[in-house]
Amino acid sequence: QRNVKVAVCGASGGIGQPLSLLLKQSPLVTKLSLFDIVHTPGVAADLSHIDTKSSVHGYVGPDQLKESLQGADVIIIPAGVPRKPGMTRDDLFNTNASIVRDLAQAAAEVAPKALIGIISNPVNSTVPIASEVLKKAGVYDPKRIFGVTTLDIVRANKFVSELKGLDPVNVNIPVIGGHSGVTIIPVISQAKPAVDFPADQLKALTERIQEAGTEVVKAKAGAGSATLSMAFAGARFAISLCRALKGEANVVECAYVRSDITDAKYFSTPVLLGPNGLEKNLGFGKLSAFEEGLLKAAIPELKKNIQKGEDFVNKN
Ligand code: APR
Repeated sequence: QRNVKVAVCGASGGIGQPLSLLLKQSPLVTKLSLFDIVHTPGVAADLSHIDTKSSVHGYVGPDQLKESLQGADVIIIPAGVPRKPGMTRDDLFNTNASIVRDLAQAAAEVAPKALIGIISNPVNSTVPIASEVLKKAGVYDPKRIFGVTTLDIVRANKFVSELKGLDPVNVNIPVIGGHSGVTIIPVISQAKPAVDFPADQLKALTERIQEAGTEVVKAKAGAGSATLSMAFAGARFAISLCRALKGEANVVECAYVRSDITDAKYFSTPVLLGPNGLEKNLGFGKLSAFEEGLLKAAIPELKKNIQKGEDFVNKN
């Protein structure tokens, strides 16, 4: 059986710690490498006592970054600053853009074949940033880099299951587009099992999914944004990558990837995962008229976010 090394960059944070804990529980992970600019020796020592298979190593500070990523099969990046009330994900750009750029640069140098999942917001822009960095380094493979949008799917599944009295385990709603506000497009018309809502309820539900992150930011009242649910979603995505790496067939997740499906260069759709990352983009089927309207609103915003990310790398 293939060994799998997973590196978490930003492992001491509100997302990073519970994400690392969930990964420590997975029998698919052989080595867990925790990088952050603070506290990773303690987080790693703590997790290393859990009696599951993986070994855990902590790396702290920029000097240890490359060592932490060396030989990684999967790199998950939740490093950065979180939102405060009144901030959009885009407001995080200035700080998080350079963090993601530097992490991607190190990954390009020591783990060019790793599958990279980016959680740091604004994901609509940070995925293009990492991609441009990898391109400049000559190691870009669009099949290996993913913006983690899984929390949007998790939320859609949960909210719909509550409204319809279903077990969320059996509910599956594709969410396409991007990972911020109007760029988030829940495709309720393709829900499995099929569900039906009156127009006003569908609109409210869609808006709740689009603004669910803000719901958490407000409730946390200055203490940050979603961490526990994001960690759950990030771990689900990371473990799906590990399952695909191990050769499991039919592993499908929605993710924000390089895409030719719409006018936006990066776009989230369901993708089939394989040992080399994205095996096949499954696209999206027919949208309802309401969802077509959402798509129309999303594209210009997405394009702007993508351009901003690309410019950050190429004009600096
Ligand atoms: N390299 C590695 N880790 C870093 C770096 C860096 N250059 N800069 C900051 N970090 C670490 C911090 O030390 C901290 O441990 O990233 C972690 C971020 O944790 P929190 O501040 O608790 O933020 P969190 O809520 O986890 O959100 C992180 O994910 O969903 C996004 O919008 C969210 O962009 C934000 C990110």
